[in-house]
Amino acid sequence: MIGVDIERIDRFEHFTQAGYERIFSKKEIEYASQFENNLEHLCGFYCVKEAFVKALDDDAIAFKDIEVLHTESGKPYINRSPFIESILREHHRHLLDISISHCREYAVAVVLVE
Ligand SMILES: CC(C)(COP(=O)(O)OP(=O)(O)OC[C@H]1O[C@@H](n2cnc3c(N)ncnc32)[C@H](O)[C@@H]1OP(=O)(O)O)[C@@H](O)C(=O)NCCC(=O)NCCS
Repeated sequence: MIGVDIERIDRFEHFTQAGYERIFSKKEIEYASQFENNLEHLCGFYCVKEAFVKALDDDAIAFKDIEVLHTESGKPYINRSPFIESILREHHRHLLDISISHCREYAVAVVLVE
């Protein structure tokens, strides 16, 4: 199964710090803040969260439950927290891969589960 999401970067422009913290983990915010175009990165993580919900067809999952981390080479992955492992087990799914891309206006992400 597959989930995809695309979002405009500017929807995150006027968020307060508390607003970001409601959606993104500390590590996601720290990662994005290394970059001048930090909103592009955050928007990409948001797309992963939406795409994960679509792939599992389960809208009871909260944004904060899904955390995007990176390997040393920069490849993104979803943190396999106990919650994520339990939701995958509940749906009888394995998380295969995710991919993110962004430009000045949009970010997009794909999540693959089987
Ligand atoms: C990884 C790379 C391809 C990203 O492409 P890009 O057009 O610059 O940027 P995009 O917006 O499409 O993608 C950025 C996202 O790619 C993902 N990414 C980064 N490194 C990655 C890797 N090694 N594997 C998979 N995905 C990766 C990240 O999720 C990143 O977004 P994030 O940092 O917000 O999480 C590029 O930065 C890179 O490392 N290139 C080196 C290889 C290269 O130059 N080859 C040239 C021949 S094609």
